[in-house]
Parts: sequence; C-alpha cells; structure tokens
Amino acid sequence: MGLTRAESEDRGHGVWAEVDLGAIRHNIGILRNIARGAEVMGVVKGYAYGHGNPASAQAMLEAGATRLGVARVAEALHLRDAGISAPIHVFTEPPPRSADTMIDHDLTATIYTEAFARELSEAALAARRRVPVHVKIDTGMHRVGLLADDAVGAIKAIKTMEGIVIEGAWSHLAVADLVDHPFTRKQLDLFVDVVGRIERVGVKLRYRHLANSAATLSVPETHFDMVRCGIAAYGLWPGPVLVGSADLRPAMALRARINQDKVLPAGERLSYGLDYELPKTARVVTVPAGYADGYDRRLSGRADVLIDGRRHRVSGTVCMDQFLVDTGDHEVKVGAVATLIGADGSETVSAEELAGHIGTINYEVTTRIPSRVPRIYLNEGA
Ligand SMILES: Cc1ncc(COP(=O)(O)O)c(C=O)c1O
Repeated sequence: MGLTRAESEDRGHGVWAEVDLGAIRHNIGILRNIARGAEVMGVVKGYAYGHGNPASAQAMLEAGATRLGVARVAEALHLRDAGISAPIHVFTEPPPRSADTMIDHDLTATIYTEAFARELSEAALAARRRVPVHVKIDTGMHRVGLLADDAVGAIKAIKTMEGIVIEGAWSHLAVADLVDHPFTRKQLDLFVDVVGRIERVGVKLRYRHLANSAATLSVPETHFDMVRCGIAAYGLWPGPVLVGSADLRPAMALRARINQDKVLPAGERLSYGLDYELPKTARVVTVPAGYADGYDRRLSGRADVLIDGRRHRVSGTVCMDQFLVDTGDHEVKVGAVATLIGADGSETVSAEELAGHIGTINYEVTTRIPSRVPRIYLNEGA
C-alpha cells in the first residue's frame, strides 16, 4: 500500500509529490479502450513527466501498456536496473559509441541515419545477435527522422545490414493537440505513403506508429498498430481543446507542510523585492517549496494554493525554497498542508491552471519538479 498524506508528513517531508499509481493504471485502461486493439506504449521519458520512474513505468505495464518510450539511453538503463524487462524504445539515436550498451540492455533503437544503423548492426553481430529497430520518418515536424524522399533509399541500405531487423516505422505529429488542424492530415497522408513504399521494397513492418496522446484521443486513423501516450497516461490533457474528452484522472498532487505562521500588521511587506504589502493585519504562513522544487518564480502573486480546502494567493515573490501566503483571517497553523497542485476538499489547482499563469503547458509544470522532491506513491500494486 502507498502512504497516506498523514504518513508522508510523518516522514518529515516539507514538500512532496503524491503520485497515484491507481490513476495511471486507470488512464492506461481508458487509452487501451480508445486505441481498440492497437498496442499502447507508455511514454515515460523526463522521469515519467515528473511522476517518477520506475514506479510510473511499472504501473503502465501492469495496466496493459506493452512497451515504454524514453528519450535517452540513461533513462532506459534506469528502468532496466529496476528490473523492467518490457521493450523500451529510445526515441532518438544516441551519441556515438552507445550501440554496445543498447544491445547489452535490449533497448529498441530508433534509426534515421545509415551511420548509426551500421554501428548498431556491427555491435549486434559482435554479440551474435540480430536486434529489432524502428525507423523514424520525418513527416513535417523536422526534429529528427529520414525525410520522406530519402526514406526508401536509406531503408534499402539498412535492410542489408545483418545485425538489425526493421520491425517498425514511425513518425511524430506536430499539431495533433489542435484538433482538426490540416497539417495532421498532411502528416498522416505522408506517413501512409512512405510506409506503403517501404513495404513495397519488401520490408514487413510489424509496428507502424504515429499517434501521441492528442491523436489517440481525437484521430482514430492515426492509431495503426500502436499509440504512444505520455501526457494522457498521467491524467493530464494534451491541449485545451481536448479537456474532458475522456475519463482521465490526474495522477499527481504537489503538497507542502507549512513551517511557520505569524500575525503581521497592515503595511508590512513580504519576501524578496518587498513586492506584496499586507492590506490589513493578517496571518502570514511560510510554505517550504520554491522554484528549486519546480514551483516557478513567475507564479509569484499569481497562483493559488489550497489550505483547508480554501484558495489563497501566493503573496510576493517565490524564492528558491519557500514562499509566503497571506491567509487573512484564516487561522492557518504550522503543520497545515498546502496543496500546490491537486485537490483539497472541493477545490482543485490543476497543472493546467499553473501552466496558464506562466505561459507554458502542463507537461512542463510536472516535468520540472526535480528529484529533490520526494515522490510518495499511492495505490501501489495492481
Ligand atoms: C516521440 C514521442 N512520442 C510520443 C510522445 C508522447 O506525447 P504525449 O505526451 O503528447 O502523449 C512524445 C512526447 O513528446 C514523443 O516525443
């Protein structure tokens, strides 16, 4: 069983992130239903968008995700070291001389240059192995990938390399969160065209995959053999247009325990810059969380926190490790819990709400919560 909030406080954490693994499992179940037969890859790069690995990855696998996706080899090794044996895709080619490591740990490589394909093939042959790879096609986002016109030529060369087998082809959508954007259709059509040309040169693709969370939720034609879901697996929305489009549950709450309370007279000013002036005599409490905990400094004077189910505005500047809240007549005492993200009673502060204050997206809000903030896992074990 996971820890209750009271138990996590007993452990003396000033600030902590509660991650409900039951919510992650629930969300994967919902995404599997929506994907209708296509496999679901759980995207767990960026420390599972801040939710924490290996627990988040494990929860996704328990709920039926069949594969995991990460950005870097080191992220994959962290999962392997934790005993996870499911296929793990690394979304970009690694720096030179990582091929042996990838082979040793059974990582599924993304390929888009002949140079890396050759390096991987040679490493596989040296280990007396033949390893599956997935070819990345650039259908218009222009991060990494083979351009459509170059893909078939490159694949003809890659398929002669004896240490690797082309198991899949994939691409990534640039604007799937903007539902009905014509560029998504353009990318989809190009992907279908390139995949067809690859198959016509004799490569049987076991996996064709294109959809991220937004496309999984809103464009069924993109599902193919597998969908790659990150943000929705954590119960967060890929964009404002999709809010409420499925029964997703946010998995993370960020909470902190108030470590000082004072009553200060009207006219006193708070925190760095003395930007906030008390309009009347009021209780002022200190929250031991700051921008080193991923609580952005631009939330100063803008964000609300929840204490005893009531909203209070962050008063003055967010510091590196703490910020202050004028709670007025609300008699908040040391030891009370402030909810920075999540629900308290009938009130909720969402990651989307914080993102709106600072001009970013919910992805960044949770992903920036660093490892110094302990993760408290709720509902461990399926
Ligand atoms: C290659 C790839 N696939 C899938 C995803 C998952 O995207 P989302 O979190 O929007 O589902 C990402 C994340 O950015 C990605 O880089």
